[in-house]
Amino acid sequence: MTAREIVPGVFSVGAIDWDRRLFDELIPLPQGTSYNAYLVKGEEKTALIDTVDPAKEYELISNLCRMGIERIDYVVINHAEQDHAGSLPMILEFFPDAVIVTNEKCKDLLIALLHVPAEKFRVIRDREKISLGKRTLQFIITPWTHWPETQLTFLEEDRILFPCDLFGSHIATSDLFMSDERTTYVAAKRYYAEIMMPFRTSIRGYVGTVRGLNPAIIAPSHGPLYKNPSFILDAYADWTSDTVKNEVVLPYVSMHGSTLKMVDYFTDALIARGIAVKPFNLSKTDTGELAMAMVDAATVVIATPTVLFGPHPLVVYATYLANLLRPKVRYASVIGSYGWGGKASETVVKMLDHVKVEVLEPVMVRGLSDETALRGLDRLADEILKKHQELNLV
Ligand code: FEO
Repeated sequence: MTAREIVPGVFSVGAIDWDRRLFDELIPLPQGTSYNAYLVKGEEKTALIDTVDPAKEYELISNLCRMGIERIDYVVINHAEQDHAGSLPMILEFFPDAVIVTNEKCKDLLIALLHVPAEKFRVIRDREKISLGKRTLQFIITPWTHWPETQLTFLEEDRILFPCDLFGSHIATSDLFMSDERTTYVAAKRYYAEIMMPFRTSIRGYVGTVRGLNPAIIAPSHGPLYKNPSFILDAYADWTSDTVKNEVVLPYVSMHGSTLKMVDYFTDALIARGIAVKPFNLSKTDTGELAMAMVDAATVVIATPTVLFGPHPLVVYATYLANLLRPKVRYASVIGSYGWGGKASETVVKMLDHVKVEVLEPVMVRGLSDETALRGLDRLADEILKKHQELNLV
């Protein structure tokens, strides 16, 4: 990606990764991604804010060379993860006099992950400022805007916030600024679900912190920049709130059709009661879609057949992920089938130990559902309706 000017003297110098389809060998990237890095020129000093994934380090160096940058005084590292910090060793080879500016925790991680020499750092504290000459960088330490060492950088005079992962989206686009609100909203919500949702309560506080800075531009390190910061701040305020929606997320697997019959019946039963339902066949779905659905649903019902004595491994995987992502769902249950016994529903419920949910009585059926089994699903649908009514969602 060629370097582009954001405002005079401030440039986007990172790289677009059009082809990447998996992040952390875990997160699907259907639209690719970008690793945004920024160059800020003051009257006296020049700062690079974050770097790029090592796979794209030559694009970053090439951008800086083509801009004629001969000196970088500071390399601000907002986050130690390699997609932003991984090109730091290469930057230090090209700009050996550059000083790395970051917080103590990030320094510690950069030394561990990248073997950066300790003497290269200038450690900053929360709200500390560095002058570039008529331009000032302020650092706000915000743990858990992905990792424990994360921080934000605010360019005060231009009111540009560089929040690294926070407010990002995995989209490869040639648009520097958001151009399509709907596409960006969906990508940002998916990104929030996959990366930020486990830290929802901390991030809710940071939304207020950022509003207090009154940024004119938010420039994250993935996806397009926001000229209208309230677009993404309002979205985050909604996603991180305690408000849930009248929705049931229904991840399922079926091997021979018994569980699928229950899923189909249960889906219709919920629709008939005015409850939105989102079924996900775990043998086909993209886990990012499932994560996104859990951002604001009130209830999750996991449907599983029994493999030997426990849940299907795809259900185990999805439940493990859901437990890590800690969605704000209020209620959970399990439905499914078994042949000769097992503890599939108990195993699934035990796996949800990080999610603060009320467990509604599961419906596990031997073999193919009969009328009694279907009445059990009606009972569960009625209970969900009652719970949603108590929350004034229906
Ligand atoms: Fe985009 Fe946590 O790295």
